[in-house]
Amino acid sequence: ERVIKIGMLGLGTVGTGVYKVLKSQQEEMLPKLGARVELKKILVRNVEKAAAKVDDPSIVTMNFEDIANDPEIEIVVEVMGGKQPAMNYILACLDAGKNVVTANKDLVASEGKKILAAAKRNGKDFLYEASVAGGIPIIRPVKQCLAANHITELMGIFNGTTNFILTKMSQEGMEFGDALRLAQDMGYAEADPTADVEGLDAGRKVAILASAAFNSRVTFEDVYTEGITKITATDIQYAKEMGCTIKLLGVAKDTPEGIEARVHPMLIDSNHPLATVNDSYNAVFLTGDAVQDTMFYGRGAGELPTASAVVGDIFDVVRNILWNCCGRIGCTCYRECPIKRVGE
Ligand code: NDP
Ligand code: HSE
Repeated sequence: ERVIKIGMLGLGTVGTGVYKVLKSQQEEMLPKLGARVELKKILVRNVEKAAAKVDDPSIVTMNFEDIANDPEIEIVVEVMGGKQPAMNYILACLDAGKNVVTANKDLVASEGKKILAAAKRNGKDFLYEASVAGGIPIIRPVKQCLAANHITELMGIFNGTTNFILTKMSQEGMEFGDALRLAQDMGYAEADPTADVEGLDAGRKVAILASAAFNSRVTFEDVYTEGITKITATDIQYAKEMGCTIKLLGVAKDTPEGIEARVHPMLIDSNHPLATVNDSYNAVFLTGDAVQDTMFYGRGAGELPTASAVVGDIFDVVRNILWNCCGRIGCTCYRECPIKRVGE
């Protein structure tokens, strides 16, 4: 039985979800993949807190080298967040010949190009499905299933925390601060929730998805961002009287004049499909010249939904490793790929 060993950086909301999903998949993954995935080491800052979350506390470490220098570890999952040291750790893992999976949209939106170049140079995978819209499959569908389209426009709800806050304010009359605290307790918010409520997190996701959809390079700096901190109970009441709902929407358009990308609160008709997307759910509309309109919907944040996307990426890397695939991002030729990995 082939066992693929992985290392994980972080055991917070998402890392704990990954731990749980890998555990629950132990029996199913063998027939699915032809191999078993074993979590060998987890990097954290607070060992005591982390040790209480796992069956075998000896897998928890405070030393990154325990993962980077372990030749048995073939895949590293970065779910610690922030730009540094996450960026240096990812580059070090790729240069050490490991594949990397991340949920870190902050990093993908700003440094994605550099990291993808490092992955390519080393002939390894760098996958980031969880970085946009949590559990909703969106990066892979755009890059693969919709590859035959010229995508011209995308629009959606890209942040679970703000959608949760707006839902609670609108449906239960909850105060902004109370709703934010609840979103934090549920594990939806970023370590610094300013990124959520000021629209930065949604802006990063729009940049990542627009880059994939328009086959272009859109960075966070290209996206106009405005959050929901100025939305009051009175605004929400007026919106209702007008038959509308306030949502924080992200929009990107590929126009002849260039790419336009923005995130800001918008009034939408209460009968619009996006008006019924509530709590931590996200939804994304995409328009392609062949497929026309498509809509993706699901949980945009939280422990298990996000872990679903991360573990899906891990399984994809495992298939690439096992079937000696070229390992290129997006390649699905696992069984019959005639192209060897770089270096083979
Ligand atoms: P948390 O803050 O819950 O967890 C972060 C984890 O990383 C903790 O275990 C922390 O350890 C560890 N960590 C942080 N910095 C370091 C460091 N310098 N060295 C070692 N360990 C470190 O974050 P989340 O799980 O919520 O988010 C993780 C990533 O996933 C982020 O990039 C986030 O944007 C992204 N994401 C989050 C989603 C969500 O719903 N929460 C959804 C989609 C993506 P310790 O506790 O010991 O400090
Ligand atoms: N803080 C993010 C959100 C997590 O609320 O959508 C998912 O990316």
